[in-house]
Amino acid sequence: MAHELTSPSMSDSASSCGSPARPGWWRDAVIYQVYVRSFADSDGDGIGDLRGVRERLPHIAELGADAVWLTPFYASPQADGGYDVADYRAVDPVFGDLADADDLVRAAHGLGLKVIVDIVPNHTSDRHPWFQQALAGVGRDRYVFRPGRGPAGAEPPNDWESVFGGPAWTRVADGTWYLHLFAPEQPDLNWKNAEVRAEFDSVLRFWLDLGVDGFRIDVAHGMVKAEGLPDIGHGQQAKLIGTQRLPFFDQDGVHEIHRGWRRLLESYGPDRIGVAEAWAPTPERLALYVRPDELHQAFNFQFLNCPWDATALRSVVDESLRATASVGAPTTWVLSNHDVVRHPTRYGSPARGRAAALLMLALPGSAYVYQGEELGLPEVVDLPDELRQDPAFLRGDGQDGLRDGCRVPLPWTPEGPSYGFGPGGSWLPQPAEWSGLSVAAQAADPGSDLELYRRALRLRREHPALGAGEAVEWLDGLPEGVLAFRRRSEGGDVLVTLNTTAREVPLPLTASPLLSSTPLPGVLVLPSPATEFTARAAHAHNVRVPADSCVWWAI
Ligand code: GLC
Repeated sequence: MAHELTSPSMSDSASSCGSPARPGWWRDAVIYQVYVRSFADSDGDGIGDLRGVRERLPHIAELGADAVWLTPFYASPQADGGYDVADYRAVDPVFGDLADADDLVRAAHGLGLKVIVDIVPNHTSDRHPWFQQALAGVGRDRYVFRPGRGPAGAEPPNDWESVFGGPAWTRVADGTWYLHLFAPEQPDLNWKNAEVRAEFDSVLRFWLDLGVDGFRIDVAHGMVKAEGLPDIGHGQQAKLIGTQRLPFFDQDGVHEIHRGWRRLLESYGPDRIGVAEAWAPTPERLALYVRPDELHQAFNFQFLNCPWDATALRSVVDESLRATASVGAPTTWVLSNHDVVRHPTRYGSPARGRAAALLMLALPGSAYVYQGEELGLPEVVDLPDELRQDPAFLRGDGQDGLRDGCRVPLPWTPEGPSYGFGPGGSWLPQPAEWSGLSVAAQAADPGSDLELYRRALRLRREHPALGAGEAVEWLDGLPEGVLAFRRRSEGGDVLVTLNTTAREVPLPLTASPLLSSTPLPGVLVLPSPATEFTARAAHAHNVRVPADSCVWWAI
């Protein structure tokens, strides 16, 4: 699994995916999510860009990730942070140009990092040439246009609401209506239309030919709507949105599209992957997206949504592993992303944030790390309203309306304008405390979040009992609020303890600590990575688990 440095050459990008891939590399990969607008700004306009990402790639490689996922950087009016694409084959000038994308892919491959790009197939921008033509009455079948209801068709065609708030329909000049599950600037495509399908095949090929290693598929569960676009029922959508049981989500018809994309990916070799952003009602429904002939990964949002509760966490881990095992796929764990409140804030404390991360990184499967998570960044909850850009916030009573607070640009240095984010300011203000949370302030500090993540990812690479494999063995009979599981491997077993309570708990076990999310009682220094598995006996220890902690032990 070690990253091998290969020298990028002009000729290899189309055929190669970076360092020689382990078969099924994605099954236990750690993939780092870059929210391009907020990662690093090379030109001082306050907005992150592709050159900035390229310059900061060593941070991601040193962290020990296997791949990066880049959020959309395509030509876009930015009505929804780039998830409103006007040209799927062009880079938005605010982020750079195609040469920058090409350079970035080559540089990442040179560092042994694979590159996943975001593809947005559920909707285009309203500025996309197709939608402009549709407004002029040409090619409307590529979108979902319907006559209205009621006198003079003045009522929307059905009662669906936009995920961002307000009706999911907007009326155009000739009196008909078009569907947009998200903002009005994001008209939904009609996936029954052959031209739509052919166009996306061509777009996928365009980026695969440029050398990307796969796609994160935006709203992969929404591309097909229930036949006849049936009403949901007055007041029902707000109740059902959390369950995903809605006529525009998780319809069986989406799977045939993903099967086609799998075939296309495989035509480029076995290592290019598709990851579904799919919100499904149950782990079983989610597992359908990762059947052997469909996509490779699907984010486990059941895990992301799980409260800080030992019983709930254990059952979501069990159910997820069972569901994905039934189709022979890995589980894809995730705690934070650009759409949700950062997990340390969600769970109520930095200590819980660190513990949750160590839990996630010990589980069998792949894991996604959202930029800044490795710095322990909290959600920014006090942004001035006039600076917010999230359409969900701007449309008032949207889903949560708070998605700007997890998108504040990263701090790289303790000083300087925008704490090293770029030579200028930053499009959202960074809290003053982020000086101390910057990458430079945390590097080499053994007690920092950054060093915890680095060490965790390094141990995961070195030790087959972490990440790889399929099963966890729970230890039963533990005090309430405490979980422990064993991960077996020929290289030695690892015990993982999670204490969700506010008090230290002794356990009837002796083991040698490898890594702890919080200082361990009686342990001044954890063994150095080089000795972790060789000098275990010297560190054997009565297991006492601190409050709100996760600890990895050699056993
Ligand atoms: C996905 C994206 C989100 C975007 C939405 C509409 O959920 O993650 O940021 O707003 O799709 O494209």
